[in-house]
Amino acid sequence: MQRLSRKLKAENKTIGFVPTMGFLHDGHISLVKKSKLKADITIVSIFVNPTQFAPTEDFEKYPRDAKRDKKLLSSNGVDYLFMPDVSEIYKLNYQTFVQVEKITGILEGEFRPLHFKGVATVVSILFNCVLPDYSFFGQKDAQQVAVIRQMTRDLKFDTDIIVCPIIRESDGLAMSSRNIYLSDQERIDALVLSKSLKLAEKLIGEGERHTRVIISKMTSEINLVASSKIDYVNIVDADNFSIVDKLIFGGKYYILIACRIGKTRLIDNVIVKVS
Ligand code: PAF
Repeated sequence: MQRLSRKLKAENKTIGFVPTMGFLHDGHISLVKKSKLKADITIVSIFVNPTQFAPTEDFEKYPRDAKRDKKLLSSNGVDYLFMPDVSEIYKLNYQTFVQVEKITGILEGEFRPLHFKGVATVVSILFNCVLPDYSFFGQKDAQQVAVIRQMTRDLKFDTDIIVCPIIRESDGLAMSSRNIYLSDQERIDALVLSKSLKLAEKLIGEGERHTRVIISKMTSEINLVASSKIDYVNIVDADNFSIVDKLIFGGKYYILIACRIGKTRLIDNVIVKVS
Protein backbone atom coordinates (compact mmCIF):
# COMPACT_ATOMS: atom_id res chain seq x y z
CA MET A 1 0.00 0.00 0.00
CA GLN A 2 2.79 2.41 0.92
CA ARG A 3 4.68 1.64 -2.29
CA LEU A 4 1.57 2.36 -4.35
CA SER A 5 0.89 5.61 -2.48
CA ARG A 6 4.49 6.76 -2.93
CA LYS A 7 4.26 6.03 -6.65
CA LEU A 8 1.02 8.05 -6.92
CA LYS A 9 2.64 10.93 -5.07
CA ALA A 10 5.69 10.79 -7.35
CA GLU A 11 3.22 11.24 -10.22
CA ASN A 12 1.95 14.37 -8.44
CA LYS A 13 -1.42 12.80 -7.68
CA THR A 14 -3.25 13.77 -4.50
CA ILE A 15 -4.72 10.95 -2.42
CA GLY A 16 -8.13 11.05 -0.71
CA PHE A 17 -8.68 8.37 1.91
CA VAL A 18 -11.91 6.96 3.34
CA PRO A 19 -11.23 4.53 6.21
CA THR A 20 -14.14 2.19 6.95
CA MET A 21 -15.02 -1.06 8.64
CA GLY A 22 -17.06 -2.14 5.62
CA PHE A 23 -20.75 -3.10 5.32
CA LEU A 24 -20.99 0.14 3.44
CA HIS A 25 -24.01 2.42 3.25
CA ASP A 26 -24.82 5.80 1.73
CA GLY A 27 -22.97 7.55 4.57
CA HIS A 28 -19.70 5.93 3.44
CA ILE A 29 -20.53 6.64 -0.20
CA SER A 30 -21.03 10.33 0.61
CA LEU A 31 -17.42 10.35 1.91
CA VAL A 32 -16.24 8.66 -1.29
CA LYS A 33 -18.03 11.31 -3.35
CA LYS A 34 -16.40 14.14 -1.40
CA SER A 35 -13.00 12.49 -1.82
CA LYS A 36 -13.49 12.14 -5.57
CA LEU A 37 -14.28 15.84 -5.82
CA LYS A 38 -11.26 16.85 -3.78
CA ALA A 39 -8.47 14.39 -4.64
CA ASP A 40 -7.05 12.82 -7.82
CA ILE A 41 -7.13 9.30 -6.40
CA THR A 42 -9.58 7.85 -3.88
CA ILE A 43 -8.53 4.97 -1.65
CA VAL A 44 -10.99 3.22 0.67
CA SER A 45 -9.93 0.85 3.42
CA ILE A 46 -12.09 -1.90 4.86
CA PHE A 47 -10.74 -3.23 8.12
CA VAL A 48 -12.83 -4.37 11.07
CA ASN A 49 -10.39 -3.32 13.74
CA PRO A 50 -10.33 -5.75 16.68
CA THR A 51 -8.54 -3.35 19.06
CA GLN A 52 -11.45 -0.89 19.13
CA PHE A 53 -13.95 -3.50 20.33
CA ALA A 54 -14.13 -4.60 23.98
CA PRO A 55 -14.29 -8.37 24.53
CA THR A 56 -18.02 -7.95 25.34
CA GLU A 57 -18.72 -6.07 22.10
CA ASP A 58 -19.69 -7.19 18.60
CA PHE A 59 -16.32 -7.67 16.81
CA GLU A 60 -17.10 -11.27 15.78
CA LYS A 61 -20.62 -10.53 14.64
CA TYR A 62 -19.95 -7.08 13.16
CA PRO A 63 -21.67 -7.23 9.74
CA ARG A 64 -19.37 -8.02 6.82
CA ASP A 65 -20.12 -8.32 3.09
CA ALA A 66 -16.93 -7.78 1.11
CA LYS A 67 -18.46 -8.84 -2.20
CA ARG A 68 -21.24 -6.28 -2.00
CA ASP A 69 -18.83 -3.60 -0.70
CA LYS A 70 -16.40 -4.15 -3.59
CA LYS A 71 -19.21 -3.77 -6.15
CA LEU A 72 -20.46 -0.61 -4.47
CA LEU A 73 -16.98 0.91 -4.39
CA SER A 74 -16.18 0.17 -8.01
CA SER A 75 -19.56 1.48 -9.18
CA ASN A 76 -18.77 4.69 -7.28
CA GLY A 77 -15.42 5.12 -8.98
CA VAL A 78 -13.10 4.27 -6.08
CA ASP A 79 -9.57 3.80 -7.41
CA TYR A 80 -8.16 1.40 -4.81
CA LEU A 81 -9.49 -0.73 -1.98
CA PHE A 82 -7.08 -1.47 0.88
CA MET A 83 -8.34 -4.52 2.76
CA PRO A 84 -5.60 -5.90 4.98
CA ASP A 85 -5.91 -8.94 7.23
CA VAL A 86 -5.80 -8.50 10.99
CA SER A 87 -2.45 -10.33 11.00
CA GLU A 88 -0.96 -7.79 8.57
CA ILE A 89 -1.99 -4.77 10.64
CA TYR A 90 -1.18 -6.31 14.02
CA LYS A 91 1.81 -8.52 13.33
CA LEU A 92 2.95 -11.11 15.84
CA ASN A 93 4.34 -9.40 18.95
CA TYR A 94 2.61 -6.08 18.11
CA GLN A 95 3.20 -3.66 21.03
CA THR A 96 2.49 -0.04 20.07
CA PHE A 97 -0.69 1.89 20.83
CA VAL A 98 -1.73 5.51 20.42
CA GLN A 99 -3.52 7.06 23.37
CA VAL A 100 -5.14 10.48 23.01
CA GLU A 101 -5.70 11.89 26.51
CA LYS A 102 -8.52 14.00 27.98
CA ILE A 103 -11.22 14.00 25.26
CA THR A 104 -11.19 10.20 25.28
CA GLY A 105 -12.17 10.15 28.98
CA ILE A 106 -15.76 11.39 28.55
CA LEU A 107 -18.96 10.22 26.79
CA GLU A 108 -18.01 7.31 24.49
CA GLY A 109 -14.78 6.96 26.45
CA GLU A 110 -16.70 6.38 29.69
CA PHE A 111 -18.77 3.59 28.22
CA ARG A 112 -16.11 2.14 25.89
CA PRO A 113 -12.85 2.79 27.80
CA LEU A 114 -10.42 1.22 25.30
CA HIS A 115 -12.32 2.12 22.14
CA PHE A 116 -10.48 5.31 21.18
CA LYS A 117 -7.08 3.79 21.89
CA GLY A 118 -7.94 1.17 19.26
CA VAL A 119 -9.29 3.79 16.85
CA ALA A 120 -6.30 6.14 17.22
CA THR A 121 -3.89 3.24 16.80
CA VAL A 122 -5.47 1.81 13.69
CA VAL A 123 -6.03 5.20 12.07
CA SER A 124 -2.34 6.00 12.66
CA ILE A 125 -1.34 2.73 11.02
CA LEU A 126 -3.72 3.33 8.12
CA PHE A 127 -2.43 6.90 7.65
CA ASN A 128 1.12 5.51 7.54
CA CYS A 129 0.12 2.91 4.95
CA VAL A 130 -2.03 5.10 2.70
CA LEU A 131 -0.18 8.44 3.11
CA PRO A 132 -3.36 10.42 2.34
CA ASP A 133 -3.43 14.14 1.55
CA TYR A 134 -7.08 14.25 2.63
CA SER A 135 -8.87 11.91 5.02
CA PHE A 136 -12.66 11.79 5.20
CA PHE A 137 -14.70 10.98 8.30
CA GLY A 138 -18.43 11.17 9.09
CA GLN A 139 -19.83 13.58 11.67
CA LYS A 140 -21.94 10.74 13.08
CA ASP A 141 -18.87 9.70 15.07
CA ALA A 142 -18.33 13.27 16.28
CA GLN A 143 -16.10 12.33 19.23
CA GLN A 144 -14.05 10.01 17.02
CA VAL A 145 -13.48 12.96 14.68
CA ALA A 146 -12.36 15.12 17.63
CA VAL A 147 -9.94 12.38 18.75
CA ILE A 148 -8.52 11.93 15.25
CA ARG A 149 -8.16 15.67 14.74
CA GLN A 150 -6.29 15.94 18.04
CA MET A 151 -4.06 12.98 17.18
CA THR A 152 -3.35 14.31 13.69
CA ARG A 153 -2.33 17.66 15.15
CA ASP A 154 -0.29 16.19 18.03
CA LEU A 155 1.56 13.56 15.99
CA LYS A 156 1.86 15.84 12.94
CA PHE A 157 0.32 13.51 10.41
CA ASP A 158 0.49 15.21 7.05
CA THR A 159 -3.18 14.86 6.13
CA ASP A 160 -6.21 17.20 6.15
CA ILE A 161 -9.12 15.82 8.16
CA ILE A 162 -12.37 16.52 6.33
CA VAL A 163 -15.67 15.94 8.14
CA CYS A 164 -18.84 15.17 6.20
CA PRO A 165 -22.44 15.53 7.41
CA ILE A 166 -24.52 12.65 8.79
CA ILE A 167 -26.56 10.87 6.12
CA ARG A 168 -30.01 9.88 7.34
CA GLU A 169 -32.75 7.55 6.14
CA SER A 170 -35.84 9.44 4.91
CA ASP A 171 -37.48 9.06 8.35
CA GLY A 172 -34.48 10.56 10.18
CA LEU A 173 -32.56 7.47 11.39
CA ALA A 174 -28.81 8.12 11.04
CA MET A 175 -27.26 5.57 8.69
CA SER A 176 -25.09 3.00 10.44
CA SER A 177 -23.80 -0.46 9.62
CA ARG A 178 -25.27 -1.56 12.97
CA ASN A 179 -28.86 -0.63 11.94
CA ILE A 180 -28.99 -4.13 10.40
CA TYR A 181 -29.22 -5.55 13.95
CA LEU A 182 -32.58 -3.79 14.61
CA SER A 183 -35.83 -5.77 14.49
CA ASP A 184 -38.80 -4.12 12.71
CA GLN A 185 -40.16 -2.75 16.02
CA GLU A 186 -36.69 -1.61 17.15
CA ARG A 187 -36.18 0.13 13.80
CA ILE A 188 -39.29 2.22 14.62
CA ASP A 189 -38.18 2.72 18.24
CA ALA A 190 -34.74 3.92 17.06
CA LEU A 191 -36.36 7.02 15.55
CA VAL A 192 -36.51 8.42 19.07
CA LEU A 193 -32.82 9.37 18.80
CA SER A 194 -33.28 11.76 15.89
CA LYS A 195 -36.63 12.94 17.31
CA SER A 196 -35.04 13.91 20.62
CA LEU A 197 -32.28 15.78 18.77
CA LYS A 198 -35.01 17.67 16.90
CA LEU A 199 -36.64 18.44 20.25
CA ALA A 200 -33.33 19.85 21.51
CA GLU A 201 -32.99 22.03 18.41
CA LYS A 202 -36.55 23.28 18.94
CA LEU A 203 -35.90 24.12 22.59
CA ILE A 204 -32.73 26.01 21.68
CA GLY A 205 -34.60 27.79 18.88
CA GLU A 206 -37.18 28.89 21.48
CA GLY A 207 -34.43 30.36 23.66
CA GLU A 208 -33.54 27.58 26.14
CA ARG A 209 -29.88 27.96 27.11
CA HIS A 210 -29.51 25.63 30.12
CA THR A 211 -28.15 22.28 28.93
CA ARG A 212 -29.56 20.58 32.07
CA VAL A 213 -33.11 21.45 30.93
CA ILE A 214 -32.50 20.38 27.33
CA ILE A 215 -30.88 17.08 28.39
CA SER A 216 -33.65 16.33 30.87
CA LYS A 217 -36.40 16.87 28.26
CA MET A 218 -34.54 14.73 25.71
CA THR A 219 -34.03 12.00 28.32
CA SER A 220 -37.74 11.98 29.19
CA GLU A 221 -38.66 11.65 25.53
CA ILE A 222 -36.22 8.76 24.96
CA ASN A 223 -37.32 6.98 28.14
CA LEU A 224 -40.88 6.81 26.78
CA VAL A 225 -39.62 4.10 24.41
CA ALA A 226 -39.58 0.84 26.35
CA SER A 227 -36.73 -0.78 24.38
CA SER A 228 -34.38 2.19 24.98
CA LYS A 229 -31.59 2.40 27.51
CA ILE A 230 -29.59 5.63 27.48
CA ASP A 231 -25.80 5.57 27.91
CA TYR A 232 -25.56 9.35 27.72
CA VAL A 233 -27.22 12.49 26.41
CA ASN A 234 -24.94 15.49 26.57
CA ILE A 235 -23.90 18.77 25.01
CA VAL A 236 -20.31 19.72 24.25
CA ASP A 237 -18.54 22.70 22.77
CA ALA A 238 -17.92 21.80 19.12
CA ASP A 239 -14.43 23.30 19.13
CA ASN A 240 -12.86 21.51 22.11
CA PHE A 241 -15.37 18.79 22.97
CA SER A 242 -15.77 19.94 26.58
CA ILE A 243 -19.13 19.45 28.30
CA VAL A 244 -21.00 22.74 28.80
CA ASP A 245 -23.68 23.89 31.28
CA LYS A 246 -24.92 26.89 29.38
CA LEU A 247 -25.11 27.76 25.70
CA ILE A 248 -23.81 31.17 24.77
CA PHE A 249 -24.51 33.48 21.85
CA GLY A 250 -22.31 32.62 18.86
CA GLY A 251 -21.33 29.23 20.33
CA LYS A 252 -21.30 26.02 18.31
CA TYR A 253 -22.25 22.79 20.07
CA TYR A 254 -22.72 19.10 19.53
CA ILE A 255 -25.77 17.52 21.12
CA LEU A 256 -24.85 13.87 21.48
CA ILE A 257 -26.74 10.68 22.28
CA ALA A 258 -25.66 7.10 22.84
CA CYS A 259 -28.54 4.77 23.48
CA ARG A 260 -29.31 1.09 23.28
CA ILE A 261 -32.41 0.05 21.41
CA GLY A 262 -32.85 -3.52 22.53
CA LYS A 263 -29.36 -4.97 22.28
CA THR A 264 -28.15 -2.53 19.61
CA ARG A 265 -26.08 0.46 20.68
CA LEU A 266 -26.72 3.51 18.49
CA ILE A 267 -25.17 6.97 18.51
CA ASP A 268 -26.41 10.16 16.91
CA ASN A 269 -25.76 13.87 17.16
CA VAL A 270 -26.55 17.24 15.75
CA ILE A 271 -24.50 20.39 15.56
CA VAL A 272 -26.20 23.63 16.62
CA LYS A 273 -25.09 27.21 16.33
CA VAL A 274 -26.62 29.58 18.88
CA SER A 275 -27.49 32.88 17.25
O1 PAF B 1 -15.49 4.90 11.94
C1 PAF B 1 -15.04 3.77 11.63
O2 PAF B 1 -15.57 3.07 10.76
C2 PAF B 1 -13.80 3.25 12.35
O3 PAF B 1 -13.79 3.66 13.68
C3 PAF B 1 -12.49 3.62 11.64
C4 PAF B 1 -12.27 5.11 11.60
C5 PAF B 1 -12.49 3.06 10.22
C6 PAF B 1 -11.31 3.00 12.40
O4 PAF B 1 -11.41 1.63 12.49
